[in-house]
Amino acid sequence: MGDEKIVALDHIDLTFERGKVYCLLGTSGSGKSTLLNLLAGLEKPTKGSLKFMGKPLEKLSETQLALYRQKYIGFVFQSYNLLPTLTALENVTLPLIFRRVTKRHRVKAARKMLKAVGLGHRWRHKPSELSGGQQQRVSIARAFVNDPQVVFADEPTGNLDTKTTYEMMDLITGMAKKNNQTLIIVTHDIEISQYCDQIISIRDGNVESITDVEKKENEDEGNQKNEATAKDTDSAYVHNIISDNSNSPDNSTG
Ligand SMILES: Nc1ncnc2c1ncn2[C@@H]1O[C@H](COP(=O)(O)OP(=O)(O)OP(=O)(O)O)[C@@H](O)[C@H]1O
Ligand SMILES: [Mg+2]
Repeated sequence: MGDEKIVALDHIDLTFERGKVYCLLGTSGSGKSTLLNLLAGLEKPTKGSLKFMGKPLEKLSETQLALYRQKYIGFVFQSYNLLPTLTALENVTLPLIFRRVTKRHRVKAARKMLKAVGLGHRWRHKPSELSGGQQQRVSIARAFVNDPQVVFADEPTGNLDTKTTYEMMDLITGMAKKNNQTLIIVTHDIEISQYCDQIISIRDGNVESITDVEKKENEDEGNQKNEATAKDTDSAYVHNIISDNSNSPDNSTG
């Protein structure tokens, strides 16, 4: 609408499958966060289409988009984004409040998640009383407490040292794999990519390459290496976030 036209992303055609870990890799300003925000329903594309389980996100109203995020999406941020006045437990219960889960169930689920991230004993503490790594553990607990289908992480280890980075990557990828959730991680750190099934390199708002990562372990799953290629299309944004729509959204393992 303005005089100057900035194209943050162009000619992108990607499909994300359930249960896989993806890295969006690229230099500063390449369009990683823009892509993530579109996929997460935080921004709408000016052109093109984004499908989640076959449904176009760009056709949803703001209210419907908010519901989509609450129901299906978890977020992990570089700077944790915890509410400073709330305890670890209260921060983790937040996504459940929006979904109107009863207090008893919220507390139970949040305690369980904090235990799973190794912070069972620190649930009463406020973010300022926790280390960066511990705060990121709280934010991981918050991202997963809702049992989302997709977890987006924008530079989740950007503020952490190397050892904590590996701990955090083990934790977040382990949780996603266990629950068959899709994990999409934005990073400019090539080391992070060893945790991913696929690396999507972004450059100047375009997909430069898509590389399947060969895993040393778990090769028994069969070497069904997909020859994924970056395709140029005329529509600016075509993302099928989850291509497998045979799974019911409320598929609960009880
Ligand atoms: N709201 C906006 N209005 C105009 N231009 C924007 C907007 N958001 C992003 N951009 C531009 O789009 C391009 C991609 O930005 P983006 O934030 O997606 O990069 P990034 O890859 O996440 O970078 P970084 O690694 O620094 O976080 C940049 O040129 C940026 O200046
Ligand atoms: Mg960014």
